[in-house]
Amino acid sequence: MELTFRGVPDDVMVPDDAEYLAIVEDILQDEDVQSMKTFIQHGTTSCLEHSIAVSYLSYKTCLKYGLDARAAARAGLLHDLFLYDWHLHSSITGGKMHAFTHPGSALKNAERKFHLSKKEREIILKHMWPLTVIPPRHPESYVVLFHDKACSMRETFRRPVPNLNMA
Ligand SMILES: [Fe+2]
Ligand SMILES: [Fe+2]
Repeated sequence: MELTFRGVPDDVMVPDDAEYLAIVEDILQDEDVQSMKTFIQHGTTSCLEHSIAVSYLSYKTCLKYGLDARAAARAGLLHDLFLYDWHLHSSITGGKMHAFTHPGSALKNAERKFHLSKKEREIILKHMWPLTVIPPRHPESYVVLFHDKACSMRETFRRPVPNLNMA
């Protein structure tokens, strides 16, 4: 089993991109979102680092293709806001369906703190598609779920995620 907790620095690296940071600033400063840096997501990457990578790469892709980059950035940052250590999920809760249930948990937690558009809700809720069976309707959802899978693979195999432009 992977380490379930690691001491991470107070400051997590963020992309050196003022326009992106202006869009997600309120989310990055939220205490629940900050707490994601105490949970390992894949390999040695925290849940917050993973979410920032997915958010930023999705933002850039959406900008490039004329899609809703703001929705991708914000929902990408919130897509894994389930707020527990998933490595311990089944032993603590008895639940073995983290892969299926965590998008709903993330959405519930995100809605408690932030106003989300219909599209942003779909991005979070469908980010595990095709596990979530019914396909997403918005192209931004496909962008985020693609980057989520690509980042997850790289993090699992401890490969650097390219094009993050970290400060
Ligand atoms: Fe996820
Ligand atoms: Fe994810």
